[in-house]
Amino acid sequence: MSRRILIAANWKMNGSFAVNTSLLQAINGIQIPLIIAPPSLYIASVRQQLVGTTLKVAAQNVAAEAQQGAYTGEVSAKMLADAGVSYAIIGHSERRQYYGETDALVAQKCQRLHEFGLTPIICVGESLAEREAGLVQTVVERQLTAIIDQCGIYALAQAVVAYEPVWAIGTGKTATPADAQAVHQFLRELVAKYDKNIAENLYILYGGSVKADNAASLFAMPDIDGALVGGASLVAKDFLAICHAA
Ligand code: G3P
Repeated sequence: MSRRILIAANWKMNGSFAVNTSLLQAINGIQIPLIIAPPSLYIASVRQQLVGTTLKVAAQNVAAEAQQGAYTGEVSAKMLADAGVSYAIIGHSERRQYYGETDALVAQKCQRLHEFGLTPIICVGESLAEREAGLVQTVVERQLTAIIDQCGIYALAQAVVAYEPVWAIGTGKTATPADAQAVHQFLRELVAKYDKNIAENLYILYGGSVKADNAASLFAMPDIDGALVGGASLVAKDFLAICHAA
């Protein structure tokens, strides 16, 4: 199987119309599979600027409850599909931490996305305390199995998984390629217990301080299929360097 590398940019709560335009003009010629996840306010504008390119747009979240109704502040999968969005990040550790998102809620979000043909980018990952307690596999298995139990293994046929060790996010402390590979391999073997074909074709991205100087060594690992990039995706030259490492 030829190496396939998928890179997603999680802009988090950053950007402006002017900054976004400048960044997109610098990266819109990238030819590898690339997903841009702006704040929801900017989705329509970013998508408009990506017309004619191969870049796709992702949301950073989606409502779990329903497709419309009295859910102030929420954006539904139906609305994301209406806006031409292809992907949505779910289960990001910042949403689990700050907004109390549980494994069950993340699985509900996965179901909402699939109802409208969107592809979830499912984030899993352990805290530093959990790693130090030797619970890495326990945590990521619990997080991913919650999706499989509620949505079925075939949900992963239209999904991307992102392993994001919480202690590596925004800290500059990237997991070593070997440590990341070990978790990616564990995740792929976990999925293979249910369906080998889905496991083989599943994109498993690494996220957590991916930078220009470590991307190539991460992508060289057999079970690392790309990256979910935060801070470095906001700086054109750094993000281009990561993409060129693919
Ligand atoms: O979703 C990707 C993000 O959590 C990684 O952030 O800044 O460590 O690349 P960063």
